[in-house]
Amino acid sequence: MVKDNLGNIVSNLPFSQACENNQQPILDVLQQELQDATHVLEVGSGTGQHSIYFAPRLTHLHWQTSDVYANHAIINAWHVAYPAPNLYAPLSFDVSSDSIPINKTINAPYDAVFTANTLHIMSWSLVSKLFELVGDILPLKGKFIVYGPFNENGSYSSASNRQFDHSLRQRDANSGIRHLEDVIDLANTHHLTLNTRYEMPSNNQILVFEKLY
Ligand SMILES: C[S@@+](CC[C@H](N)C(=O)[O-])C[C@H]1O[C@@H](n2cnc3c(N)ncnc32)[C@H](O)[C@@H]1O
Repeated sequence: MVKDNLGNIVSNLPFSQACENNQQPILDVLQQELQDATHVLEVGSGTGQHSIYFAPRLTHLHWQTSDVYANHAIINAWHVAYPAPNLYAPLSFDVSSDSIPINKTINAPYDAVFTANTLHIMSWSLVSKLFELVGDILPLKGKFIVYGPFNENGSYSSASNRQFDHSLRQRDANSGIRHLEDVIDLANTHHLTLNTRYEMPSNNQILVFEKLY
């Protein structure tokens, strides 16, 4: 029987143990970084587990999920099991073909975008596209918050991340753990400046970019 951190049985829902493990440390950062945010777009919501944990703990903002259409049924199933008034059903967003999706019932632009564990799944050209789209739609002072593993100074941050990178590339040669320096350079070309970097458990990081100009 699978139980989540809330003590509920979730064995009938597609379940990510990684999400259960990292959601509280990520939330701790989001509560700090999103104090002034009103409307957040999550890119690549996956199972939706992060969204059902974050939304009820960030009640001052709207949490808008999104992903490729194939993941919507799973996300919706989690939302039905754990509804929250500020949590919104997934919008279709495939970085390869779509512009940033809008929920027309919420009368506010996004002032932050959050994404977890997507940069090493997408090809580098899609990562570039994502930063371009996010840099375009964020207002001044808007934040792009990115969680995941990164290489630094040309090195893996751990033996497990080296193994993880190899397994990613075996599955899809265009995927793989990104170099922190490349991501920062890419962000700079889209008016996004690295503001804060958080070391997270299991050799992950959160990068907080801000649109400053
Ligand atoms: C490893 S999962 C991470 C899911 C979730 N954010 C988490 O941390 O558990 C990668 C996510 O990226 C999404 N993704 C991959 N390619 C994408 C694309 N081209 N456009 C939008 N999302 C994409 C996948 O659908 C999936 O939800």
